[in-house]
Amino acid sequence: MRHFTTVDDIADLKKALDVAFDVKKHPFAYGHLGRNKTMVLIFFNSSLRTRLSTQKAALNLGMNTMVLNVNDDGWQLETEMGVVMDGSKPEHLREAVPVIGSYCDIIGVRSFARFQSREEDYGEKILNQFIEYAGVPVVSMEAATRHPLQSFADLMTIEELKTRERPRVVLTWAPHPRALPQAVANSFVEWMRRADYDLVVTHPAGYELAPEFMQDLRVEYDQEKAFKDADFIYAKNWASYSSYGQILSKDMNWTVDARKMAMTRNARFMHCLPVRRNMIVTDEVIDSPASVVIHEAANREWSAMAVLKMILENNP
Ligand code: CP
Repeated sequence: MRHFTTVDDIADLKKALDVAFDVKKHPFAYGHLGRNKTMVLIFFNSSLRTRLSTQKAALNLGMNTMVLNVNDDGWQLETEMGVVMDGSKPEHLREAVPVIGSYCDIIGVRSFARFQSREEDYGEKILNQFIEYAGVPVVSMEAATRHPLQSFADLMTIEELKTRERPRVVLTWAPHPRALPQAVANSFVEWMRRADYDLVVTHPAGYELAPEFMQDLRVEYDQEKAFKDADFIYAKNWASYSSYGQILSKDMNWTVDARKMAMTRNARFMHCLPVRRNMIVTDEVIDSPASVVIHEAANREWSAMAVLKMILENNP
């Protein structure tokens, strides 16, 4: 593996899980791999978990880390090719990316969907420029269309907590006051499909994911029906793909509550965090023993460490 931007970069998911569970058990056994190597983490958007867990993972592997918040600390970066740069952005990604690459061995980059153009977001304009111009491996720390480090941690969590070989996993849309990207939902369905879980997605009409992520996905528009027999409820909001970036509903009937959780097969409640309490999920559910959101967030350190370990081993 050179770059990590999607589950497709993982040749063998079972082996990758073994690596993740091994580093979770032995976090300081591989400090030699990153000695005298540096990871730069570039953030175009805010973060708590990704910033800390990825940095911690790199440190566990013996790497040095540097963090740049592009919008706050660095020059504003132009991302369009061929523009006359007479506006507010004094530097182009075309120079910035190879310069960053010259200072490090791995780059992590977070750049969310901007909702200005579906084609631009789904073309992963920023992430792909990093891959093209960095000269070093690039790790997605959530791009416009996917959040693979999150999905890898989600998969670890389900593997650790499942009570049957092929659990029923339900991804449910839930209301949110702001328009959020589809990246977590897209990525989650890709990883769950690769894991061959019994996956069901439930959302109001108009919230269908992009066709490349939908494929043969089982969609149940009745949320209560979808919850029946579920082992895991994964809640997430996303804005519409077809009416791109729009909020079509804030229907609080879709909030995950104790009554709906009681319809499941004693399901665990999952969310990638940060979560809007009493919008996405009630206090009663997220504070209950069924909630595994902290366990899930803690696994972010191990999914990141597994990915960085595999990259370091493959790109000495
Ligand atoms: N789940 C997640 O990626 O959290 P942050 O946005 O805080 O990094």
